[in-house]
Amino acid sequence: MKLCDPALFRQECYIGGKWLSGQKTIPVTNPADDTVVGFIPSLGGGETRQAIKSAKDAFPSWSRMTAQKRSQILKRWFAAICDNKNDLAYIMTCEQGKPLAEALAEVLSAAAYIEWFAEEAKRVYGDTIPMSQEGKRIVVLKEPVGVCAAITPWNFPSAMIARKTAPALAAGCTVIVKPSELTPFSALALAELADRAGVPPGVFNVITGPAEEIGSALTESSDVRKVSFSGSTSVGRLLMRNCSDTLKRISLELGGHAPFIVFEDAVIDVAVADAVESKFRNSGQTCVCANRFIIHESAYAEFVEKFVKAVEGQLFVGSGLIADNNQGPLIDIDAIEKLEDQIQDAIQKGARIATGGKRIPGKGLFFEPTVLLDVTSEMKILREETFGPIAPISQFITETEAITMANDSEYGLAAYFYSRDVGRAWRVTEALEYGMVGVNTARLSSEAAPFGGVKMSGIGREGSKYGMDEYLEIKYMCIGGI
Ligand code: SIN
Repeated sequence: MKLCDPALFRQECYIGGKWLSGQKTIPVTNPADDTVVGFIPSLGGGETRQAIKSAKDAFPSWSRMTAQKRSQILKRWFAAICDNKNDLAYIMTCEQGKPLAEALAEVLSAAAYIEWFAEEAKRVYGDTIPMSQEGKRIVVLKEPVGVCAAITPWNFPSAMIARKTAPALAAGCTVIVKPSELTPFSALALAELADRAGVPPGVFNVITGPAEEIGSALTESSDVRKVSFSGSTSVGRLLMRNCSDTLKRISLELGGHAPFIVFEDAVIDVAVADAVESKFRNSGQTCVCANRFIIHESAYAEFVEKFVKAVEGQLFVGSGLIADNNQGPLIDIDAIEKLEDQIQDAIQKGARIATGGKRIPGKGLFFEPTVLLDVTSEMKILREETFGPIAPISQFITETEAITMANDSEYGLAAYFYSRDVGRAWRVTEALEYGMVGVNTARLSSEAAPFGGVKMSGIGREGSKYGMDEYLEIKYMCIGGI
């Protein structure tokens, strides 16, 4: 791997401040060309318990350290990430496939979460409450929840780790990260930089290996007081069940099926540009990607014509390491097969392909950016999350119909709509059953905003002051005899 600092490419786990290899290893392949990027240890329950012990041992001193000192350490980690941003982006593109420009943007977004929560560490305020009895006072304290586990996905190998661990560490918790075995090297590079930044041993740990074995050890342990997971709804439900025996706090950022509504009074060129960006970022592999387009009948012809033209003219598929390519590979063969299945099902039920529709033969897991027209609600593509570069388009006539179509999903993560009518902006936002709504924008992620969903899209919020609350317990002190 061509890095300015080759020491960032670690093939061991980081537990208790030490690098640990395993007897068994797992190969990690580059989805753009099927080559092996490297090997990671295949660790299991024993090593997970060792990581939990390290995190538990480190908790008293980390949680009692002044917020000022924790903040300074996190700021050094932020600076180290910024200083090494190009290497981190390169590692990410090699293991995940996304274009280098997107990988770099993600690294900077990860750094932004760490910087933001480094500041927030100093602002964990409590409360005083007027008492109803004489001679007593009520004081509310905020305390770190304890040892936390972060189980993170392959689609954002750095940002999801930062979004979970930065508030946890800022609050005074210690953390065990279990990254996806498809994209572990970004996580291990972050651990190397945390070590260099002076994060004390045991405060931040990264363990790799089979998800089920490590996940079970994390959920079974009563020493782990919180699990935060980003990934599929089915795994999220399983984790929630497994956390119930030890009554852990839980945050779940799960699947999405974001509707993208264009009303008749929208600025069509803006809607088209945002639709392309939102649908095809990370080749459609984000939870908040526009997953279905719901276009007013009077804007439909213009939107479709301009959207298809943009998809055909602005998207370049190929290795993310080659400049100009803005559509990388899908993560694995299952992802490709899911797209083929959704397209076949839609066509059988009456949809038409406006462009794309096929996997690209040869090395790597590439798929043509695809637009499907005449899509209806009984098609799988409007029911299942797609997680790939297919844009299904349907039409509506009334505002009520658009809202009904948008809410006709078990998911409730992100929704977008385009309209210049300020009354409609409030009305539709309030009617949408989603955790996040973009009005005339399809870019929602920010370290300063509460990211999260409702319904089957999850529980809890990440980012912002609300994201900090997820790692804090409330303790109420009642003082008598005053
Ligand atoms: C996701 O969680 O899939 C999206 C994250 C982002 O938009 O930054």
